[in-house]
Amino acid sequence: MKIFNTIPKIREALREIRRDGMTIGFVPTMGFLHEGHLSLIRIAKRRADVVVVSIYVNPMQFSAGEDLAAYPRDFRRDETLCENEGVNFIFYPNDEEIYPDGFATRISVEGLKEPLCGRSRPSHFDGVATVVAKLFNIVEPDLAVFGKKDFQQLAIIRRMTRDLDFPIEIVGGETVRERDGLAMSSRNKYLSPAEREVAPTLYRALRMAKQRIEDGGAEDSEAVKRVMRAQIESADAFEIDYIEIVDPETLIPVANPSSRKVVIALAVRLGAARLIDNIEVGF
Ligand code: PAJ
Repeated sequence: MKIFNTIPKIREALREIRRDGMTIGFVPTMGFLHEGHLSLIRIAKRRADVVVVSIYVNPMQFSAGEDLAAYPRDFRRDETLCENEGVNFIFYPNDEEIYPDGFATRISVEGLKEPLCGRSRPSHFDGVATVVAKLFNIVEPDLAVFGKKDFQQLAIIRRMTRDLDFPIEIVGGETVRERDGLAMSSRNKYLSPAEREVAPTLYRALRMAKQRIEDGGAEDSEAVKRVMRAQIESADAFEIDYIEIVDPETLIPVANPSSRKVVIALAVRLGAARLIDNIEVGF
């Protein structure tokens, strides 16, 4: 496994890989890796000859007052985990490498960046799209793997890839969960033991809602959301940011979720952590 800190160095190494006719799979991350990240690395390993993981906590996707400074970091541990998964290259740049003086460009995927998480994090997805576009141009992978846990992010990356003609296949990986259903996240580290104990309520509410829709009780989205809200609020620990039932591609709310594909998505605050989760229905 090789570690690169600069754009010219990783470009040079990847040029050789491509010259030898090998395909490149890419998994962008912000580090502090867990089983969710590792599952994406395994997908990339299966699908490509050479796997590149980037580890970069991207300041552009955090706004003032968010957890940029507190975001957990442990490069040595990430390095070992990547080595054990057979990752070939790690790209581990610093801020000057990614955002040199005078940096002025912003990529904005309009229509998809505003709803859901965009409402409380208005500049977040511009930061994500901009850094991912840069990383795509640096790594030039054949395929890139993103988690369905961040389902709005995945929809935005798919749209951007089509709109900007990146010749990259975007692959979605299933959400990896703890045994009690809590979606794995680097931010789960912020939860106190008591908060960690109630956190699985979110996935229980999502599963219950999916069941109600699949049972075909002809319930509209408002009714399903009401029941979810009651279940989550009964735990008396969550502050609900949103619960939405949306079209998986356009992210537009769906009034009647039966007999079609929808995603039920939610975001809550639980103590110091902002948690998101979602479930696919009708797929
Ligand atoms: P990060 O939160 O580190 O996540 C990196 C990738 O891992 C994302 O594609 C995310 O969806 C996926 N992931 C996180 N938790 C997961 C889980 N429990 N199961 C499956 N996949 C999971 O997302 C980012 O970083 C950044 O926004 C990034 C795309 C790297 C741009 O900075």
